[in-house]
Amino acid sequence: MKAAVLHALGRAPRYEEFAEPSAGKDDVVVRVRAASLKPVDRQIASGAHYASPREFPVICGMDGVGELDDGKRVFFGGPRRPYGAMAEKTVVPRPFCFALPVGIDDETAAALPNPGVSAWLTLTHRSKMAAGETVLILGATGVTGQLAVQIAKLLGAKRVIAAGRDERRLRRLRELGADSTIQLDQPVDALKDAFAREAGADGFDAIIDYVWGAPTEALLAAMTRPEFAAVTKETRLVQVGESAGATITLPAAVLRSTALTILGTAGIPSREILAEAMEQVLGRGARGELRIETERVALADIEAAWQRKEEPGRRVVVIP
Ligand SMILES: NC(=O)c1ccc[n+]([C@@H]2O[C@H](COP(=O)([O-])OP(=O)(O)OC[C@H]3O[C@@H](n4cnc5c(N)ncnc54)[C@H](OP(=O)(O)O)[C@@H]3O)[C@@H](O)[C@H]2O)c1
Repeated sequence: MKAAVLHALGRAPRYEEFAEPSAGKDDVVVRVRAASLKPVDRQIASGAHYASPREFPVICGMDGVGELDDGKRVFFGGPRRPYGAMAEKTVVPRPFCFALPVGIDDETAAALPNPGVSAWLTLTHRSKMAAGETVLILGATGVTGQLAVQIAKLLGAKRVIAAGRDERRLRRLRELGADSTIQLDQPVDALKDAFAREAGADGFDAIIDYVWGAPTEALLAAMTRPEFAAVTKETRLVQVGESAGATITLPAAVLRSTALTILGTAGIPSREILAEAMEQVLGRGARGELRIETERVALADIEAAWQRKEEPGRRVVVIP
């Protein structure tokens, strides 16, 4: 069979022949129809991830959509090494196959679960977002951020504020449900004013942060109260990504003058929670309630696609 084969860390995978997989006791062989190419796939192949391979050759890709022997179409994850998702066939543990609802196309079904489930769990499980809340998404123009905006609206947010740099995507986010937008690449004082304006007197209930670094520092400065005041609102900030910077300077004053709690995403939740989130995300994707921008790339072109700079906000889907 043909596959995206990696021969050493730090290289691009090559389109090559590879021996077909066979199923072990608890595995199933999947005939792959589409596999997503995510930042984490590149990180793993570069050697920068804790799960980077130590033996070669291996096939790239962590998840995708395929058909089982009985013709059932599934989303699958966790291929058994040396097999990967970017191949004509792969082999995965049976519990890592999730039935697909009717009406969802292969590309959407391959691209949506990873960022969609992440955004769903961040909002429901970590932030515990409730209907009627005001939610700020920092890095809303990214693949995951765009889904977080849509999911916050679906969960009944009163207002969703989308912050990012890409003007075209910020406009698109208005169509996808954002009530207002903040341009992140403006002078820092103007950015602080924009955050303060959008926070208004009531402030934010939930902040989902995919950027960290300078934009988060500007936000925290805008949230710091300049006077002794009764605190009426609790704000939860969930740290998810670090697109703008790996560190921030955190002045003590922001934590003393506001009721701010900073949380992380805290690893992978239990299989039950994951399965419920997967069902919600795939179901809403099938009904067109959640949308993701994808770009098809033929498996035969994987080497060139891998070396190209990834466009933020759009997910590449590899088609065998
Ligand atoms: N821990 C988890 O479970 C988890 C899950 C999903 C994502 N993440 C992380 O979250 C981040 C975003 O993921 P994604 O899938 O949405 O990625 P993506 O599609 O590549 O989007 C990147 C986002 O970061 C913004 N950005 C990049 N550099 C920036 C800078 N210097 N200043 C301000 N904004 C900047 C982009 O804004 P513009 O395009 O507008 O410039 C865009 O909104 C990544 O760090 C990713 O690793 C973590």
